[in-house]
Amino acid sequence: MPDAVAPRPAGRWVLINGSPRADGDTARMTQTFLQACGQPEVYRVDCFARPILPCDDCRYCHTHAGCAKRDMDEIYRRIEQADRLVFVSPVYHGGFPAPMKALIDRLQCYWAARFVRGESPAAFPPKQAVLLSAGGAPGDAGGKALAEQLRPPLTVLHAALAGTVHLADTDRRPFSAGDEAAVIRLAKQFLFQNNIL
Ligand SMILES: Cc1cc2nc3c(=O)[nH]c(=O)nc-3n(C[C@H](O)[C@H](O)[C@H](O)COP(=O)(O)O)c2cc1C
Repeated sequence: MPDAVAPRPAGRWVLINGSPRADGDTARMTQTFLQACGQPEVYRVDCFARPILPCDDCRYCHTHAGCAKRDMDEIYRRIEQADRLVFVSPVYHGGFPAPMKALIDRLQCYWAARFVRGESPAAFPPKQAVLLSAGGAPGDAGGKALAEQLRPPLTVLHAALAGTVHLADTDRRPFSAGDEAAVIRLAKQFLFQNNIL
């Protein structure tokens, strides 16, 4: 008899990747996390591979739904429909790498919808989010900075940050079994919170 195939976790997953490196710590964490989550089907945005135009505060979104720039239409649609958001990124000078920061700034249209146009509550499903980050410096300051930067856009997206893992000191040590265990713990906790386990 063939082995039973485990069902894929339910939900609509969007993964936003801020690392340009295919084999760095962020990639390793992403792979470990998705594997521990049962390889869900994800809509993936590699920010360096498809650079997003930056928000230039044109204020189109103060009077219209959406954004005047059309390069993110599909990404907006996927994010709105998602119930799980996975953010993975290295720390660059205390923040997100520029292409990922551009995407985060473009979420400003959801802030305008709620606080300028008064569309509240958000008309899309609530979301659970996680953040996996890597930084060359010791300590967790870089991971905390990224989590803080995510907080405002997550709020207007009706999303809660369910957990984070930050790998520190990555420039001086390889990805370890302890790092892998921390990512797997977060994945299990995430699945549990989402009632998938
Ligand atoms: C432009 C640049 C700026 C960086 N700034 C920081 C920083 O402020 N804090 C930090 O901890 N690491 C910093 N780093 C190191 C990276 O975060 C670290 O090497 C990380 O593990 C890279 O992840 P990746 O290989 O998965 O892309 C920086 C690296 C680059 C290229």
